[in-house]
Amino acid sequence: MDKLHPLFAHPTQKLWNSCLPRKSQLVYPIFVVDGENQKQPINSMPNINRYSVDLLKEFLEPLVIKGLKAVLIFGVIGNEDKDDVGSMAGGLGKDSCVHKALRVLKQAFPQLLLITDVCLCAYTSHGHCGILTKDGYLDNQASIKRLSECALSYAQAGADIVAPSDMMDNRVRAIKELLDQHPNLRVPIMSYSSKFCSALYGPFRDVCCSAPQKFDRSSYQLPPGARQLALQAAERDLKEGAGYVMVKPITAYLDIAAEIKRRHPDTLLACYHVSGEYSMIHAGAEKKLFDLKRVVLEYMEGFVRSGIDIIITYFTPELLDWLE
Ligand code: PBG
Ligand code: ZN
Repeated sequence: MDKLHPLFAHPTQKLWNSCLPRKSQLVYPIFVVDGENQKQPINSMPNINRYSVDLLKEFLEPLVIKGLKAVLIFGVIGNEDKDDVGSMAGGLGKDSCVHKALRVLKQAFPQLLLITDVCLCAYTSHGHCGILTKDGYLDNQASIKRLSECALSYAQAGADIVAPSDMMDNRVRAIKELLDQHPNLRVPIMSYSSKFCSALYGPFRDVCCSAPQKFDRSSYQLPPGARQLALQAAERDLKEGAGYVMVKPITAYLDIAAEIKRRHPDTLLACYHVSGEYSMIHAGAEKKLFDLKRVVLEYMEGFVRSGIDIIITYFTPELLDWLE
């Protein structure tokens, strides 16, 4: 065939060549706060709000009706409730808004898959994803112990999947070992395995008030050029018992996603289309540089084409309309 145009001349032929995700492949990140009747807009992220637990049902109901199948839950707390070890993250006897949200959502939407982010940065006074020693270094052992307690507490509160995003070494194994001691729970781990130290998390830290007070996260998040490390991380986390691995952010890291899928064709691969990726597409559309819908759909096809199975994106509500 030397002529290609005839192969996509008809709209149906174009459809044969499309690779949009199914609605069931989308995961919507949501932000939960304490209090009542709270719907707090976020300056840096259009259409994204923090919600108190009492508003979650009416917020999500229309989306569930349109086909929303999964959410990723983040908790946001006030600075006055933060401490060195992130006590409010869970596992130390105190319930947070996340635990309450899990119970409320499980009851309200029994069919909705509840994924819970597991990390300490939104709960620690220093804003790091793990626990620090007195000298300010990362205490990996203490961190993974603490993170597994949190993961267990989410599983016990009704999480269907726990998703550690902290990037401490061997936290998947630690979480797996603790969860395995509770065989009545059947909660797999979705590891943020290949998570890069990205400038694109800016808007998110604004939402979660989780920016580190001192230093950055470059000792535990991967250097953006680290292809080998990203592949090793996925391999290691699968060996440690992760049920799913993830690439985050995604647009600048599609090569990593494609290679992980090539090496692990039997594992479902997730990607996190992060806050900065979301807000910059919105900013471009607002400036009339391009059409929002067309650009978002184009990115989604790129993700699927690269071999991604599960897409965590803030565009989920729009996509539930557009993928009709
Ligand atoms: C924290 C966490 C981050 C995101 C998810 N969990 C950011 C960070 O490392 O500061 C980023 C999500 C986004 O930017 O949308 N462990
Ligand atoms: Zn973190």
